[in-house]
Amino acid sequence: MVKVPNHVAIVMDGNGRWAQQHGHKRHVGHKEGVKALRKVVECAAKSGVKILTVFAFSSENWRRPREEVGLLMDLFLLALKQEIKRLQRNNVRLRIIGDRSRFSTDLQKSMAKAEEDTAANTGLVVQVAANYGGRWDITQAVRKLALEVQEGSVQPDAITEEHLAARLSFSDLADPDLFIRTGGEKRLSNFLLWQSAYAELYFTDVLWPAFDVAEFDAALAAYATRQRRFGLVGEQVVSSTETAG
Ligand code: IPE
Ligand code: IPE
Ligand code: MG
Repeated sequence: MVKVPNHVAIVMDGNGRWAQQHGHKRHVGHKEGVKALRKVVECAAKSGVKILTVFAFSSENWRRPREEVGLLMDLFLLALKQEIKRLQRNNVRLRIIGDRSRFSTDLQKSMAKAEEDTAANTGLVVQVAANYGGRWDITQAVRKLALEVQEGSVQPDAITEEHLAARLSFSDLADPDLFIRTGGEKRLSNFLLWQSAYAELYFTDVLWPAFDVAEFDAALAAYATRQRRFGLVGEQVVSSTETAG
């Protein structure tokens, strides 16, 4: 049986370059990017992936030209409204991760509504990272823990990795198994820093709007060939999978 990742994380990069290559303004690339995401959501669900976490807007992306940031916010709002029906039909549960406090009230409301409306769905979980940064995530977890120390419910010398992990953005879900980045850059750009400690990395030059079912399947196929050792030696991994049947 082919090994399918339980949780796939994607840095959806390359919208701007795709638009430029096709003689359009950058925001056209972002619009096409939404279409690519729609397809990937469907094909992730069909492939047996349980969780899909995508990087839509980083904590650093506010530094882009004001016009681009504005258009991205408009697109977010529109996509949240337009996609709900489709998500419902596909039994997808939507979650937003990141610091929402910087978004407009309208957008924050739409985010909460989309989450509420899809909360009872039992299929694929799609997490959209918006104003997200891996360092922000770790920092907010540390802040929670510091408060608990101050209140006396946690002893500093009793703090373990599990304490911190339990206070991260999606502590109730498993860590990513496969981390995909499109658009050719080979960096994490502050995405799921803690949670990707043992994710298999997959980089492709394909620009996000051109990332299709075949590309997604290629990433899954590459994942299936990887031996995940988690610090063990290869023979230990082979014998443990043999005993697991
Ligand atoms: C990713 O595509 C989308 C966002 C960061 C919002 P880019 O906009 O970074 O596209 P390139 O990297 O400039 O081509
Ligand atoms: C990462 O892409 C963020 C998203 C895809 C949302 P960027 O295009 O912002 O990353 P850098 O700036 O090239 O590292
Ligand atoms: Mg980019």
